[in-house]
Amino acid sequence: MSAIEIKESPKQVFIDTYGCQMNILDSELVQEQLQALGYQFTSIAADADVVLLNTCSVRQLAEQKVWSQLGRLAIEKRENNNDLVVGVLGCMAEREGAELVKRMPHIDVLCGPSELDKLPGLLQNAMQNRQRQVALSGHTSRRSATLEKAEDGVEALDLSRSFSATRSSKQAYVRITRGCNKFCTYCVVPYTRGPEVHRPPLAIVQEVRSLVEQGVLEVTLLGQTVNHYVFQDGGKTTSFADLLAMIHDQVPDLQRLRFLTSYPRDFDDATLDVMAASPRMCKYLHIPAQSGSNEMLRKMNRGYTVETYFGLIERARMRMPDIRFAGDIIVGFPGETDADHEATRLLIQKVRYKSCYIFKYSPRSGTVADRRFVDDVPDDVKKARNRDLLDLQNGIALEIHSAMIGQEIDVIVEGFSPLRVHRPQPGEVQLGWEKRSAESTSHVRLMGRTQGDEIIAFEGSGDLVGKLVTVKVTEATQLSMRGQMVP
Ligand code: SAH
Ligand code: SF4
Ligand code: F3S
Repeated sequence: MSAIEIKESPKQVFIDTYGCQMNILDSELVQEQLQALGYQFTSIAADADVVLLNTCSVRQLAEQKVWSQLGRLAIEKRENNNDLVVGVLGCMAEREGAELVKRMPHIDVLCGPSELDKLPGLLQNAMQNRQRQVALSGHTSRRSATLEKAEDGVEALDLSRSFSATRSSKQAYVRITRGCNKFCTYCVVPYTRGPEVHRPPLAIVQEVRSLVEQGVLEVTLLGQTVNHYVFQDGGKTTSFADLLAMIHDQVPDLQRLRFLTSYPRDFDDATLDVMAASPRMCKYLHIPAQSGSNEMLRKMNRGYTVETYFGLIERARMRMPDIRFAGDIIVGFPGETDADHEATRLLIQKVRYKSCYIFKYSPRSGTVADRRFVDDVPDDVKKARNRDLLDLQNGIALEIHSAMIGQEIDVIVEGFSPLRVHRPQPGEVQLGWEKRSAESTSHVRLMGRTQGDEIIAFEGSGDLVGKLVTVKVTEATQLSMRGQMVP
């Protein structure tokens, strides 16, 4: 593609991202890749020459949002902007490719999540030839081979990362593993992202180092089952624990290292030992249990029991008494009884998650659960169980936050907080939020995150954004805390 040609009339791109952290990272990499070729990005869809939807298929609701957005784009294209290029990227493109273009013939580009390095070429062709461009991997069946070589095409997007000195965010995602081999019976991810591929450790360390050189303070390593990372090179094996230790020790200016999402099976002591021994590693695990009932776990093909899960929580707490856990739960999986639900309540009470996402089971065509089981828990029961667990979790979160009142904690300042810390007193000048910017040095309300992933709001100078500060916790709510900076 000719960069000069694009430079003469820069195309404006709008990208809308749905789904998980993998998609957020993919969108960021797509943006960097296209910007390097002269495209510009706009946050106003109506100004765009190219609209990209980076989609998620994990639940029906996620797909519904994309269908409605595509409906709106069809009207926009027909009535206002014939030349608008519409691209569907990500998991839904991979899963629903044929159905998407049948129902939405105005789609110009379809690109699966493992094919995103091809996107620049696809866009260029779509604009020049006005013909639909498609790049999908066809991850439709179980594949056992774990690809471990860097030459594999899926590495290309991660390797394309451009390290601009103007990077403003102090937080960055780094992928260490793509895909998933687990085939939990309810889940589409193995079909949309394909089999597990592990990136070489040196490429990962180099990427983290480059990000830190640009001012990044916190890196989150990403993988669907991140703790299953393993890389074999000749006779040498690098385990997940080895990788964590390598990053921690070889990039000493990195302030915080975390990872998600962990899989409860095969979580070894070596990894916990490295976490405990490494001061800049966050004492935090996002480790979805999905259910507290062994029968449900068996039908979900999760490969562990509640007892194994509790064992892991205990092994982690023994080494790191202050560790924070986050989780995911599915309510209303086929056949889930009141007793199964009660078992999940007990699990939440016992683990005491700092935060826990509760999802209503959403049958996905093509998955084993959809073929084998009837979606027999009525929606009102799913809703009631969802509400029940949310209430329970909110109470626990409030207790965890309240117990931190009085503590002095390290916080990375992420930005400005929309929360009111105090009501202005009569005669006091009220600051206008909309006028504040990162350059502002006046006293404003800031928002930061602890190493345990808690959110805290406090008053401070605007130029602290992106810095590590100490804050004393003074108040707590279910979702966040408030505090005062320690001078
Ligand atoms: N790899 C991660 C999770 C990926 S999907 C893991 O295994 O932990 C994110 C979450 O979505 C899952 O943890 C699960 O709780 C939820 N989820 C996945 N498929 C779902 C479905 N069909 N219905 C409802 N929730 C689902
Ligand atoms: Fe889906 Fe299970 Fe893989 Fe997570 S581990 S992505 S829930 S198949
Ligand atoms: Fe969704 Fe794909 Fe992530 S289905 S949750 S965007 S891996």
